[in-house]
Amino acid sequence: MGAREAPGTRKRDALSADRPPGGGETEPPVIGYIEPRPVITNGRQRPVATIRGVFAVRFSSLVERIAGERVTAWDIHYAAQAARDRGEDVILLSVGDPDFASPEVAVEAAVGALRAGDTHYTEVAGRDRLRGAIAQAHTARSGQTVGPENVVLASGAQNGLFCAFQCLVEAGDEVIVPEPMYLTYEATVRASGATVVPVPQPTAGGWRLDLAAIERAIGPRTRAILYSNPSNPTGVVYTRAELEGLARLAIAHDLWVVSDEVYADLVYEEAEHVSIAALPGMAERTVTVSSLSKSHAMTGWRVGWTISPAPLAAHIETLALCMLYGLPGFIQEGAIAALEHGAAAAAEMRAVYRRRRDLGVARLSRIPGLSCAAPQGGMFMLVDVRALGLTAMEFAWRLFRATGVSVLDAAAFGLSAEGHVRVSFVVDEAVLADAADRIERFVGELGAAPRVAAG
Ligand SMILES: Cc1ncc(COP(=O)(O)O)c(C=O)c1O
Repeated sequence: MGAREAPGTRKRDALSADRPPGGGETEPPVIGYIEPRPVITNGRQRPVATIRGVFAVRFSSLVERIAGERVTAWDIHYAAQAARDRGEDVILLSVGDPDFASPEVAVEAAVGALRAGDTHYTEVAGRDRLRGAIAQAHTARSGQTVGPENVVLASGAQNGLFCAFQCLVEAGDEVIVPEPMYLTYEATVRASGATVVPVPQPTAGGWRLDLAAIERAIGPRTRAILYSNPSNPTGVVYTRAELEGLARLAIAHDLWVVSDEVYADLVYEEAEHVSIAALPGMAERTVTVSSLSKSHAMTGWRVGWTISPAPLAAHIETLALCMLYGLPGFIQEGAIAALEHGAAAAAEMRAVYRRRRDLGVARLSRIPGLSCAAPQGGMFMLVDVRALGLTAMEFAWRLFRATGVSVLDAAAFGLSAEGHVRVSFVVDEAVLADAADRIERFVGELGAAPRVAAG
C-alpha cells in the first residue's frame, strides 16, 4: 500500500515509518495523517487533502500550477446559493448556467437511447453522426469547411480547452490571453506547464481587442493566443477587422489560436460573429472550442468539442483515449437530436436572452452612478460602479446583504475589469426587473447615506 493512495484519513503506520523517505523499492514512510477539508479553488468548493506533520505523500507540481487565486469573488455566489437554499429571498445574477430546460427533443432522444441499452463504450472521438452534425453546424455558421475528421468530442468546452492546451504547449511556453478573461483559462493553460500572459484590454474602449498591446506581448516563448468570442465576461463580439488583425499577428509569429466560441450562437443581431478559423491562413493554426452548454441550455450534459486541423485532432483523440474514453452513447444521441432538431428551441432562447439583455441594460443604465454598455453576445454584462465610490467587491457584498441580489466583482476576470460587477441574465424578465428595482433602491440609499450622515 503506497502513501500515494487516494487522500483520506490514514494513521501513522509504525512499521513503514522506519523506512527511508522516498526510498528505492520500499514505500515512503507515512507519518501523520491527511484530513480532507473544503477549500474554494477556481470558484468551486471541494475537498482537498491537507497535511499535518512530517508526511511522505507527494503531489505533482501540477497541483500548484492549477491552484486558483482569483477565488474570493465567488464567495458571494456561494453565500447567495446557501441563502436561497435556506429559503431566503435571493436573486442570483452571479451564475452562467442557463435557466432554460434542455430542448425536449434532446431529452427524449437521450432517454430513448438509455432505455434501448445505449450504455456501452463508444467511439473515443465521438459518433460519426454527431461529429458530422457538429462539423455541419460549424461550417454553416462560420463558412469554414470542416468535416468529422476535424472534430473530437470533449466533456464540455472546458475539457476541450484542456485537451487543446495539453497538445499544443508545455513548460517554458507562453499563451497570450486578452483580459478580462474567463476564470478557468489560467489554470487550464498552466496545467500544461505553460504560463498565461494576460494582456489588459482598454476599459475605456469597452474592452475591444488592443492589437498593439497584444503584439507587444508576443515574445520568443509565445506559442498561442486564447480568447473567448463572444467574451465572457465583457459581452464583446470581436469584429472581422479585429480578428483579421489578430490573424495577421498569429501568422507573422507562427502562433496557434484557440478560439472559445461557446457563446457564438448567442450573438445579438447588431454584431456579426466571425470565427477566426475561417479567415485566410488560419484553418491550419486554429482550434475552435465549443459546446451545447449555452446554445442549447445543456450545461449538465457535458457535450463539447474541439475543431482543429486533422493532425492535431488525431493527437487530441489520443489524449481523449487516456483521459475520457468516449462520451456516453445516450448523451451523444441527445446531442445529435439537439443539433438536428433543436434549432427552434435554441433560437427561442436567444430571443429571450436578447429581451433580457435589453431590459437589463435599459433599467441599470438609467440608475445614477451606474453605467453599462449593451453586451453584443453571451449572457452577461459588466456594470461600472466606480462613480459610487465603492470597490466592486464592496458594492457586490453590500448589495447582496441589503437586497438579496448577487452579482460578481468582475476584477476576478482581470484587472482591466476593476470597478465593474458582472451581472448575468439567467432569470426571467419579471425577476430581472425585480432585481433592477432592488439595485436602484440600493444605489439610491447609498447616495442618501452620506447626506444623512452629514446632516
Ligand atoms: C467562456 C467560457 N468558456 C467555456 C465555458 C465552459 O463551458 P462548458 O460547459 O461547455 O464546459 C464557459 C462556461 O461558463 C465559458 O463561459
